[in-house]
Amino acid sequence: LPKNRIFSGAQPSGSMHLGNYLGAFRNWAKLQDDYECIYCVVDLHAITVWQDPQELIRQTREAAAAYIASGVDPKRSVLFNQSQVAAHGELAWVFNCVARIGWLNRMTQFKDKAGKNREKASAGLFVYPNLMAADILAYKASHVPVGEDQKQHLELTRDIAMKFNNDYGREVFPLVEPVIQKEGARIMSLRDGSKKMSKSDPSDASRLNLTDDADSIARKIRKAKTDPHPLPDSVADLAERPEANNLLGIYAALSDQSLEKTLAEFGGTDFAPFKKALVDLAVAKLSPITQEMSRLMNDPAEIDAILSEGADRAAALALPVMEEVRETVGF
Ligand code: ADP
Ligand code: NA
Repeated sequence: LPKNRIFSGAQPSGSMHLGNYLGAFRNWAKLQDDYECIYCVVDLHAITVWQDPQELIRQTREAAAAYIASGVDPKRSVLFNQSQVAAHGELAWVFNCVARIGWLNRMTQFKDKAGKNREKASAGLFVYPNLMAADILAYKASHVPVGEDQKQHLELTRDIAMKFNNDYGREVFPLVEPVIQKEGARIMSLRDGSKKMSKSDPSDASRLNLTDDADSIARKIRKAKTDPHPLPDSVADLAERPEANNLLGIYAALSDQSLEKTLAEFGGTDFAPFKKALVDLAVAKLSPITQEMSRLMNDPAEIDAILSEGADRAAALALPVMEEVRETVGF
């Protein structure tokens, strides 16, 4: 079994944003030093909710561009698009037959995403965690970097691996371990401190997109929701102040310094001077990424070639695993 193999992915279902960067992509780049990394643009997950086909193609390229611009090196890591490697869909079907409906009924993300209209949600959205398990286990990945929101799904991946091994009496799949990251683990909406920054939020002002220019970044940070008090001096005093906590957390993460140090710098000041410093920092850190993404997006053929080469490498890694699965199941 591979001992140090990472799998992770993001959905090409909208604009990539600061939350994706601080909570995922930047960390993915760092993990390349210690792990064999497989990074996927998970378009099969994206279509659990309807996507315009032309937009899906564009956003898939843009997601790949965002990974690369954030430091994922397609030579060191395997970077590809999920739909281009058949193992994902095939193994997901096997897992649809392993996972129990009762397990899926407990997934809080499905409840959040389907909302009140559960009966109208796609069946794909319901079995999405089985596809995620297939993404990981098709490569026998040992580690998965996960945000808070995906912890429950990773538990399900372990349950599926265990039940598969148990049902067939063979140790085919490993029990994958989470790689938990603290800083930047949960970046919140700029408009509502109780909601996570998300590409599916209809308000564009709620997030800093990795494609935003300096003016948009400045405007969004200036308009970001705050409270009427000066910034506190201690982390404990941030508990009841979600907006201050979020903006300070973003500053800390972007400057690679602790929240304590950030508070030592800005505690006691009003939001206005702090926001000014945050604009400067965000523009300095994000504009090289925006520029690199735009350079890559100007040459779609280059992105497609990178993704296609990555898909070949991924398919080669999944091949022996799928042979073992087929033999085990009796195909
Ligand atoms: P979204 O929630 O915007 O649709 P995805 O579900 O595709 O994003 O998530 C891709 C990766 O980005 C995941 O690892 C996820 O944990 C991380 N991520 C997404 N939103 C945030 C956020 N607001 N803060 C921190 N990490 C995030
Ligand atoms: Na998500």
